[in-house]
Amino acid sequence: MSRVYNFSAGPAVLPEPVLKEVAEEMMDYNGTGMSVMEMSHRSAAFQQIIDEAEQDLRDLMGIPDNYKVLFLQGGASQQFAMIPMNLMKNKVADYIVTGQWAKKAYQEAQKYGKANKIASSEDQTFSYIPDCSNLPVSPDADYVYICENNTIYGTKFKELPNTKGKTLVADVSSCFLSEPVDVSKYGIIYGGVQKNIGPAGMVIVIIREDLITEDVLPGTPTMLTYKTHADAASLYNTPNAYCIYVCGKVFKWLKAMGGLEEMKKRNEEKAKILYDFLDSSKLFKGTVVAKDRSLMNVPFVTGDKELDAKFVKEASAAGLMNLKGHRSVGGMRASIYNAMPKEGVEALVAFMKKFEEENA
Ligand SMILES: Cc1ncc(COP(=O)(O)O)c(C=O)c1O
Repeated sequence: MSRVYNFSAGPAVLPEPVLKEVAEEMMDYNGTGMSVMEMSHRSAAFQQIIDEAEQDLRDLMGIPDNYKVLFLQGGASQQFAMIPMNLMKNKVADYIVTGQWAKKAYQEAQKYGKANKIASSEDQTFSYIPDCSNLPVSPDADYVYICENNTIYGTKFKELPNTKGKTLVADVSSCFLSEPVDVSKYGIIYGGVQKNIGPAGMVIVIIREDLITEDVLPGTPTMLTYKTHADAASLYNTPNAYCIYVCGKVFKWLKAMGGLEEMKKRNEEKAKILYDFLDSSKLFKGTVVAKDRSLMNVPFVTGDKELDAKFVKEASAAGLMNLKGHRSVGGMRASIYNAMPKEGVEALVAFMKKFEEENA
């Protein structure tokens, strides 16, 4: 077996113990004589899998009882429409645009009502998080929307915006379970699981119960109504059963590791190794305002496109994979999610040092 260090932004590295466990259970899950892939989502064995997954997630995040946890399909992108369809009672929502994903959500919301861009960092290629302490929040806004960690640009909200009492909706796709959160501050927290939690093909939506109503925009499909899935405990139709199973294993792994406080400590330690090197390097530099740096996605450049390409190629030959930056920004990006071991980041920095010496 030959494993690489995979710095992909998503789908991304998963914990090795989880991969081994699911491999062991592939032919016979827990004495059922079948794989979870082959199992009815209405079976007792699967009911236990989904119930445990939800409970473990509730334990990890300290999700209050008045929030539902939904395991849905359609990816994070489907939420860009589902959120306004379900929440835009006044047909007004405020968006803080800090990257491509927030921008897509903002553009999608315009189809359903008046979406206001109340702050943006596009003026400086999304390299910072705007001051959100006193924004012109619309008096009739149904919610204020953020993308909490910007996967492409590598910025993170270190403080939540002052929504002036309005419901906060956050896309946490790329920082899900990377540190503790106070769920009660949000109306909806959601994220695609394919970055920090599991395989692609599912989004987890944590939603306060009062936001789950039948009063949705006219024409909203049954499948895009939160109430449909909340009433059926995520089993209205066939869910992504195998993904729920793998995510459940990752939740158990996180619990065994010591939970989200411990993950935060580890993630800070890992990110510091890389940022400290970037701050001292003569060749490489980070692209983000220091105070807004993400713990999960670390973009960097040499300033020379050809050298960037050479770096990505040589790193990949050395088993440090998927370091090419997003196609919209170029350069490099190292995604160092929960499952990336510290040794992976150390190996990357050692390689960067060597590359710097060779290309000085
Ligand atoms: C922050 C963020 N939101 C949304 C998405 C889109 O996710 P999906 O491909 O699951 O629709 C991504 C994907 O990379 C992302 O990083």
